[in-house]
Amino acid sequence: MSDDKKVIFSGIQPSGFLTLGNYLGALNNWTKLQDEYNCLYCIMDLHTITVRQDPAKFRKAERELIMQYIASGLDPEQNIMYYQSHVSQHAELSWILGCYIYMGELQRMTQFKEKSQKHSDNINAGLFTYPVLMAADILLYQTDLVPVGEDQRQHLELAREVASRFNKLYGDVFKIPEAYISKVGARVMALQDPSKKMSKSDENKNNTIAIMDPPEVIMSKFKKAVTDSDNEVRYSDDKPGVSNLLNIYCAVTGSTTAEAEREFDGFGYGDFKKSVGEAVVAKLEPVQKKFMELQNNKDYIDSIIKNNTEKARHLADRTLSRVQKKIGFMPRV
Ligand code: TRP
Repeated sequence: MSDDKKVIFSGIQPSGFLTLGNYLGALNNWTKLQDEYNCLYCIMDLHTITVRQDPAKFRKAERELIMQYIASGLDPEQNIMYYQSHVSQHAELSWILGCYIYMGELQRMTQFKEKSQKHSDNINAGLFTYPVLMAADILLYQTDLVPVGEDQRQHLELAREVASRFNKLYGDVFKIPEAYISKVGARVMALQDPSKKMSKSDENKNNTIAIMDPPEVIMSKFKKAVTDSDNEVRYSDDKPGVSNLLNIYCAVTGSTTAEAEREFDGFGYGDFKKSVGEAVVAKLEPVQKKFMELQNNKDYIDSIIKNNTEKARHLADRTLSRVQKKIGFMPRV
């Protein structure tokens, strides 16, 4: 990593195939950052176990996520992609930071409140300290910028808070990270309920397009997507279904909203949805093809994992050892 570039850190949990929302909102934009920044894209497996996982399915999702990163266009030579559980510094720094974050701060986290309602049979301590680990993820790499969605803003704010608290006590140890707001990138909503975000954990599979869905499945999900009754393709707050489809279309084709509205002028919703589906199929085709190739190339993936993990460990350890020294831990033997 060159020292004159800013550091970007982000990551996704390995729980099932990525959606079109992950692709258009995150991955497709990340590929545009690889020349300008030093980027780390972690696979957040420590966070994933705050919710029970089936070990075999979990391992498969982990393996497939790095392949989806690469298939989406992230260059594994230019970006550091690795598994959180392979770099033990994440867990170590998380313990330390947990001693500088207050119970009250964690109790205020809206995601904790939501998740403890959703998983009321398993409100484990990890679910509660989730934002502490997330702060450790970010601060370990002296991160400048963190591309995250709205739902993670509060966690990022806490990471900034604990970083400045720590720096006040011990001098400049951590870089204070900022949110990276992308100029492009779409917020993709659920196809059957455009009031909520498209999410890979959605139980209704018609709400989401997985990036590995076969073309006929993609077409049929778009066919069923919710619109409205006035049969006019126009972007408007009171037309959330149609607006979501227009957003998706623009994100995959690069057209502006005005251009797309003109293009679909006079179209019925059936034909409009078919065009959106076709555009998405075309955009995902090379991603799917690359994924299939990677599936047959286990040695290549293993070597990527090995190289990138070593790079991440080296960087993470630089910060961790400074932190340990500042706190007054005995020098390592
Ligand atoms: N909490 C994030 C999510 O669910 C994933 C995540 C964990 C993350 N650690 C992070 C994202 C650090 C950005 C930076 O989306």
